[in-house]
Amino acid sequence: MNQHVPYGGPLVPASNQTAGDDAKILGSKLREIAAVVFSPAEAKTLRRFTSGEVARILGVTDSRIRQLSPELLVSEAEVAPGGRRMYTLADIHALRAHLDAIDRVGKRYLPHRDPAKGEHLQVIACVNFKGGSGKTTTSAHLAQSLVLRGYRVLAIDLDPQASLSTLLGVRPENEREPYPTIYDAIQYGAERRPLSDVIMQTYFTGLDLVAANLELEVFEFEAPMQSARRRPGDVEPPFFARMAMALGEVGERYDVVVIDCPPRLGYLTIAALCAATSLLITIHPQMLDVSSMHQFLKMMDELMAPVREQGAAPTHDWFRYLVTRFEPQDTPQTEIVAMLRGLFGDRVLTKAMLQSVAISNSGLRGQTVYETPLRRDEVTGSTYRRALDALDAVNGEIEKLIARAWGRS
Ligand SMILES: Nc1ncnc2c1ncn2[C@@H]1O[C@H](COP(=O)(O)OP(=O)(O)O)[C@@H](O)[C@H]1O
Ligand SMILES: [Mg+2]
Repeated sequence: MNQHVPYGGPLVPASNQTAGDDAKILGSKLREIAAVVFSPAEAKTLRRFTSGEVARILGVTDSRIRQLSPELLVSEAEVAPGGRRMYTLADIHALRAHLDAIDRVGKRYLPHRDPAKGEHLQVIACVNFKGGSGKTTTSAHLAQSLVLRGYRVLAIDLDPQASLSTLLGVRPENEREPYPTIYDAIQYGAERRPLSDVIMQTYFTGLDLVAANLELEVFEFEAPMQSARRRPGDVEPPFFARMAMALGEVGERYDVVVIDCPPRLGYLTIAALCAATSLLITIHPQMLDVSSMHQFLKMMDELMAPVREQGAAPTHDWFRYLVTRFEPQDTPQTEIVAMLRGLFGDRVLTKAMLQSVAISNSGLRGQTVYETPLRRDEVTGSTYRRALDALDAVNGEIEKLIARAWGRS
């Protein structure tokens, strides 16, 4: 990064600080850092795309894009040095809709689901209790990739640490007003709000977000208390059915929901597992991660037992392992991947998310690779392209699973 990041500063450590005082100090420091590292504007914005990138996204040739009437575009014209027109994501969506309208036979440009054909809302939960296994990175890139492919997507951040929210432009330390989270839509009693009140639109046109913050923790206390108090015939859905209940309120607006789960098996995660139509378990191929995943799977099964006993066990359309941060040159890693494939067969996705400087650098800047333009001072064109190809391959494989769940292929 070229910018000077103000990690240091004139702070004089004071004695007698409480956690609350320290939170204030840290909060203002984080805002200061964010102002430098991230865009100085409060709201995150998305860059524009070149016609070449638009062609790649829409799967047509560059010349086809440039032949389309500029009147189809919905954003104000912006031209790059050299005279090339630059496209916003809203423009890309408009072009996609146009191509879909004029190209009815042949391939589908708008892949929206058709409930009349039984194409049900896909709810993909990204889980594992190992921090750093790439859940958030996977969730963010999957959600954005699906939007770029023309789907209507809702991302739900279930981690009180709010990493996905931050990536998608909502930073707890930056927000002046308290903002709602999924907790508001799944809490018990009269305070509960419909999920539509909680959803925020993001700078990534077509991607909606239910952001997270520490308030989510309240559910971890409330859910067991409410469960203990339950009497036969209660009308309030039990904790494990509450996420599905909330999603039911907005389901028809979306094709896919991506849930970034917290790194633990609490009540929130169980509610997400019960609302999910499919599970994506991210695994970094190292021995410690594999044994931690073993614990996770075992405990997940145990925790789901009471749900199964109540006849509410979810049936998932698919359940897949995604190898993340994979280094193909690293022999121990390839051995672990081979072992996982031997054990789980095609439940391990064929494509893996490669360890890539393009991904970690984008992450440092609070962005995904899809939104970071190539910066030649940081990565070479081929590194950047390799990361994009790996992401497209993984997300394309997941798209096929979605299509299959809809009976399309
Ligand atoms: N494929 C990758 N290549 C390089 N860095 C990655 C990759 N996936 C994740 N990271 C980095 O690893 C760290 C942890 O990833 P994250 O997605 O936050 O994991 P989790 O949500 O499971 O805790 C982040 O700093 C992220 O930028
Ligand atoms: Mg995370």
